[in-house]
Amino acid sequence: MARIIESGKDEADLLEARKAFLRSRHAVALTGAGISVESGIPDFRSPGGLWSVFQPDEYATLDVFIRDPAKAWDLYRALGRTLEGKQPNPAHLTLARFERAGRLARVVTQNVDGLHQAAGCENVLEVHGDHQHLQCIKCGWIGPMIAELLYGDEVPACPNCTFPLKPNVVLFGEDVRGMDRAMDSMRQCDFLLVIGTSAQVYPAAGLPTLVQSSGGIICEFNLEETALTSGLSGGLLTLFDGGAATRSDFLFKGSAGEMLTLFAEEAAY
Ligand code: APR
Repeated sequence: MARIIESGKDEADLLEARKAFLRSRHAVALTGAGISVESGIPDFRSPGGLWSVFQPDEYATLDVFIRDPAKAWDLYRALGRTLEGKQPNPAHLTLARFERAGRLARVVTQNVDGLHQAAGCENVLEVHGDHQHLQCIKCGWIGPMIAELLYGDEVPACPNCTFPLKPNVVLFGEDVRGMDRAMDSMRQCDFLLVIGTSAQVYPAAGLPTLVQSSGGIICEFNLEETALTSGLSGGLLTLFDGGAATRSDFLFKGSAGEMLTLFAEEAAY
């Protein structure tokens, strides 16, 4: 089990985690929907999250989009409206400060909300794509998202080949993006901040295994314990390491903004 740090408690563990970060030479962050909850964007799997309204296999797969794009757009509109006008919160801003100070090499995010970039992070790898663009899966055309699409009932057509367009997000059944670069970052990484992800969706959830197997520290920030906290993560990771379990070293248990601010306090920027 990871060492669990809660606000105001576990001072020794907090100092040890912070020291390991300050000593690290190649820190990386892996983020998920939980980092954006304090910006007003609900996550996917918590009660009331997007997947409690839209069953992923009914709305979020490539097959559904191809078979019934109008139905798939019900989900894309709901997601897009949720993202509209949202601003980075202290967790995104702390990562951007780490990056500017040369303490964070890269953010690998599963999020499609663009809030890391809005906070000022420059080296962001969006492995599940982004919702700020439209994409044609047939001819490869990419263009900016059109705000009106989020309020009508139109399925947009590709200006190039007329195939239905979708947001530039990765659906279940599609390949994730930039996985080679993400894996390279993890292999070099000696301190991984895993922030606001349930660590259930592969291949992204398998990335911490690469850090642990080369001796790096894994430090989670989450409201609750995850499969990574208890070492139950990794059973499916035959792809990366033959199936060994991966377990975080520390869990900062609480909201990402509050706990990252606590973690960053007094860290030399
Ligand atoms: N601070 C920290 N953690 C939080 C907060 C918060 N304020 N709010 C929620 N969390 C945690 C939850 O406890 C949960 O562990 O964030 C995690 C969110 O998990 P998911 O909803 O499963 O989101 P994520 O891990 O990003 O999902 C991965 O699944 O369907 C897909 O493509 C979608 O990119 C997404 C992927």
